[in-house]
Amino acid sequence: MSEALLKVEGLKVSYGHIEAVKGIDFELREGEITTLVGANGAGKSTTLLALSGLVKKAAGRVRFDGRDLSGMAPHRIVQSGVVQVAEGRATLTTLTVRENLELGAYTRGEGSAQRLRDLDYVYGLFPRLAERADGLAGNLSGGEQQMLAIGRALMAKPRVLLLDEPSMGLAPIIVQDIFRTLRTINQAGLTIFLVEQNVRQALKIADRGYVLETGSIVLADSGQALLGNPRVQEAYLGS
Ligand SMILES: Nc1ncnc2c1ncn2[C@@H]1O[C@H](COP(=O)(O)OP(=O)(O)OP(=O)(O)O)[C@@H](O)[C@H]1O
Ligand SMILES: [Mg+2]
Repeated sequence: MSEALLKVEGLKVSYGHIEAVKGIDFELREGEITTLVGANGAGKSTTLLALSGLVKKAAGRVRFDGRDLSGMAPHRIVQSGVVQVAEGRATLTTLTVRENLELGAYTRGEGSAQRLRDLDYVYGLFPRLAERADGLAGNLSGGEQQMLAIGRALMAKPRVLLLDEPSMGLAPIIVQDIFRTLRTINQAGLTIFLVEQNVRQALKIADRGYVLETGSIVLADSGQALLGNPRVQEAYLGS
């Protein structure tokens, strides 16, 4: 069994009087896809923001590869290898696809030969981006923008990739395409934490899953077991 690469203990986040995340524990095992699923307002995005250091934790610790990320600044968290994919529409629309990807590598300061290899890797994963490399990101479809956002995060050479609802607003066929690519990236060794409201698709590709309800984790199991769990089926899979 693989070990926990990232471990969260007792995480609480509040917005004023609202306790959005109420003391949760979970872990991401190295080389696995872990998903956090839940309904609207359950606290999924808040959990991701806390991992990235973008909201203040009321309590709790985040340990990553033996280090304590709990009080670390967001850019240091990225440099340490925990990289969140920007929301699909957050690509820089007045830059080209290639320029957006190159920006992803900005925090690393490696030589241009390595950057070119990384660009090739991303273009191999997303041939559509290669075709549109010199076009403006603003002219991409929603699905292509999501691919670009993932590609840009990969250019930062993450050890853990965080995604907040990459399926949002996309046609089912595009969602399948994106999830298939996440699987490919994972099989190349990358640890992935996927936050989703699309419970069925997320559990299908995940090794492990956690179900979040109003700020608390109510179920934790393998993706397969959760897909077969009657409580999950009734609440989230419409059966
Ligand atoms: N900036 C904020 N200020 C105040 N309350 C907030 C803020 N952001 C989120 N909340 C509240 O915190 C709770 C959790 O929100 P969060 O966005 O983390 O949920 P979510 O699971 O990501 O939902 P969704 O599926 O809609 O993206 C909700 O009750 C939400 O209204
Ligand atoms: Mg959200």
